[in-house]
Amino acid sequence: MVKAGRVPEHVAIIMDGNGRWARQRGLPRLAGHRAGVEAVKRTVEAAGKAGIRYLTLFAFSTENWKRPAREVKGLMKLLVHYAANELETLRSNNIRVRVIGDIYSLPEEVQEAVKKCERATKDNTGLTVILALNYGGKWDIVHACKKLCEKVARAEIRPEDVDEELLSKELATVGIPDPDLVIRTSGEKRISNFLLWQCAYSELWYTDVLWPDFGSKEMAQALMEFGRRHRRYGGLEKTRGRTYS
Ligand code: FPP
Repeated sequence: MVKAGRVPEHVAIIMDGNGRWARQRGLPRLAGHRAGVEAVKRTVEAAGKAGIRYLTLFAFSTENWKRPAREVKGLMKLLVHYAANELETLRSNNIRVRVIGDIYSLPEEVQEAVKKCERATKDNTGLTVILALNYGGKWDIVHACKKLCEKVARAEIRPEDVDEELLSKELATVGIPDPDLVIRTSGEKRISNFLLWQCAYSELWYTDVLWPDFGSKEMAQALMEFGRRHRRYGGLEKTRGRTYS
């Protein structure tokens, strides 16, 4: 792993390239997603070892419903298996799981599996793994606005009370610091409706490596690069993240 530098507190990943990985091997797309689950396991381990506190994984976007029904069904099945098979490993490694997104529109078995994971790991104090499921940055902001409108309608707050802090508190990520570093694999350089509000000042790191090939080596490269970045948040020199050796 990386020897020294600033560790991002929160790393968020757009896991891309499963389909291309499968195509390159003459395999069905779902084989790419299955290999992607193995990359998830490696990455969770690498993040824990590096001292990252929060790791968000974009597992299913609000746009992914546009994919063929068979692929969507396969992805849901993989999520259920991951939540069930990894629960013991997550629990014994002091990893907490949180889910963000419009999960009530997901199949019931997915909801139950991920909620079980959340419940069983809620007291863990190590790495928090945040699964973004049926998540979209626009959905998150609209959902937060609706909640604020409801509060205004109930006369709990006044429209003039609404500010960045109040809105942040209604986002799915409440209590989680904004990502310091966003990684996207497979050479694509887009945010694709990921954590739109939360990524306002995130550092972005792209790699051509396809998600199923991602592992500790690529995580180390990303962290090295992050350590070299100067973060100014629109102002002058300022750094965030903890120093480790
Ligand atoms: C993008 O690759 C990947 C996804 C839309 C799904 C990511 C899901 C997993 C890695 C498996 C389940 C996750 C967890 C957390 C257990 P793509 O299909 O868009 O690839 P392509 O652009 O090459 O077609």
